[in-house]
Formats: sequence, structure tokens, C-alpha cells
Amino acid sequence: MVPAAGRGERLGPGAPKALRELGGAPLLVHAVRALASSRAVGLVVVAAPADGVAEVVGLLDSHGLAGKDVRVVAGGATRQESVRLGLAAVPEETGIVLVHDAARPLVPVEVVDAVVAAVRAGAPAVVPAVPLADTVKRVGPGGPGRPEPVLDTPDRSTLRAVQTPQGFRRELLAEVHAKALAEESAGGGPAVTDDAGLVEWYGDQVVVVPGHEEAFKVTRPLDLVLAEAVLARRRA
Ligand code: CTP
Ligand code: MG
Repeated sequence: MVPAAGRGERLGPGAPKALRELGGAPLLVHAVRALASSRAVGLVVVAAPADGVAEVVGLLDSHGLAGKDVRVVAGGATRQESVRLGLAAVPEETGIVLVHDAARPLVPVEVVDAVVAAVRAGAPAVVPAVPLADTVKRVGPGGPGRPEPVLDTPDRSTLRAVQTPQGFRRELLAEVHAKALAEESAGGGPAVTDDAGLVEWYGDQVVVVPGHEEAFKVTRPLDLVLAEAVLARRRA
């Protein structure tokens, strides 16, 4: 399933991020194609901006991606809600669900296949990840005229930058999303930024497979410049 309902605030003013163009097609179209190019993928569910479902159906159609193997549902106010709404449209007999950000248009199919293979081999939750180039520091709060103090520096060799698609046994992913919703309704809930984070929160093991530098997330304007360059190189 492809959460694509975000606004893309860090990318700057314009259309919702998933609908922004890269090499003549919306990011979402690239992301759906990347998933659908895996032989392991039988159905793609897109969570579209709630006011843009018809537009997204039209876009997918105009890029040859409409049909019974692509469904579009309305997404939610948070990524977590969008994934939950998308999951509700995944048939119960589905064994494995991949969750893939529309904002990662250039993920190589090898990454998709590696995630699926690891779930098939028995891991209930799998994330693709790459080593970090930068040193990372934890900081405390700063303030006016008071720079943020460095608290500590985690050993970089133990850190990974996590990408998508993340892969799960469908039952497990549905279960942790249901638990998070119940906790949220009670005014709590885990503060996590990815689906694997929910699995970790509720105590199941997540494992890592190698990601790919071209699976980077288009977040800020420079990322779009990089994505155009990668695409141009692929097409050369
Ligand atoms: N997403 C979603 N529903 C939301 C928020 C995010 O489906 N309510 C999706 C985005 O469309 C994106 C993915 O989650 O494909 C990763 O999120 P992110 O990169 O943060 O995208 P945005 O939330 O759109 O960007 P920003 O945070 O800069 O506004
Ligand atoms: Mg966001």
C-alpha cells in the first residue's frame, strides 16, 4: 500500500507532494510503477489526499495504471491514519503487505524483492536501510540566544537510515495499527514515524535488509533536483 495523502510542506508551496512531477509523471505514478514492477506484488492500494481521490484515479488511469490491481482510497490526517485506511482495503487473504511512501519514487525493484523475500523467509517485519554518511548527535532544547547543547553522539556504525517499502505479515501490521488507534482514542498512543516503529513499540522483532541510495525520500526541494538527475541518468 502507498500512503500518498501528505501535503509535502517541507517541499514548499504547490500541489500535494505525491502529485508533484518528476520527469513528466507524478511521484505517485513512479512509486506505484516501482512496486508493480515486482512479480511479488499483486495489488496496489493508494491512500490519496481525501479531497483528491478522483484526481488520483484519473492520474493513474492516464499513466496506464488503473485497473483491478490498483485501488485508491481516501487517506487521513496523519501518515499512520492513511496507512490504516489503506490497510482496510487490503483483502483479508493477503499474506504480506508492503507499505511504500509515494515520496520514494525511485526505489529499485531489487529492494522491493529483498523485503518480500525476508518476510517470506519468516521475518514478521522487515525494513530496508542504509548506513549513515553523517555523524548524528542528540541535542537538548535551545532558546533565544542559547544554542542547542549536544547531549551525546551515538556510535554511527550501529545506526541505519530506514527506507520503504517496509514489509509485514498482514495480520501483524493490522494488529499494531488497531492497537495504536485504540490508544490514540484514549488520548495516548505511540509517537512513531514509520510502521516498523509500531511493531517495535508493541514488542515484535523488526529486521533489516539492505536498502538502496536511490530509494531516498523526496522531502525538500533539493531532493527533487537529485531525483530528476537520477531519472535522467537511468534514461540515458
Ligand atoms: N502521508 C500520508 N498521509 C498523511 C501524511 C503523509 O499518506 N496524512 C504520506 C506522504 O504522502 C508520503 C509519506 O506518507 O508519501 C511520507 O511522508 P512525508 O515524506 O512526511 O510526506 P508529507 O507528509 O507529504 O511531507 P511533509 O511532512 O513535508 O508535509
Ligand atoms: Mg509528513
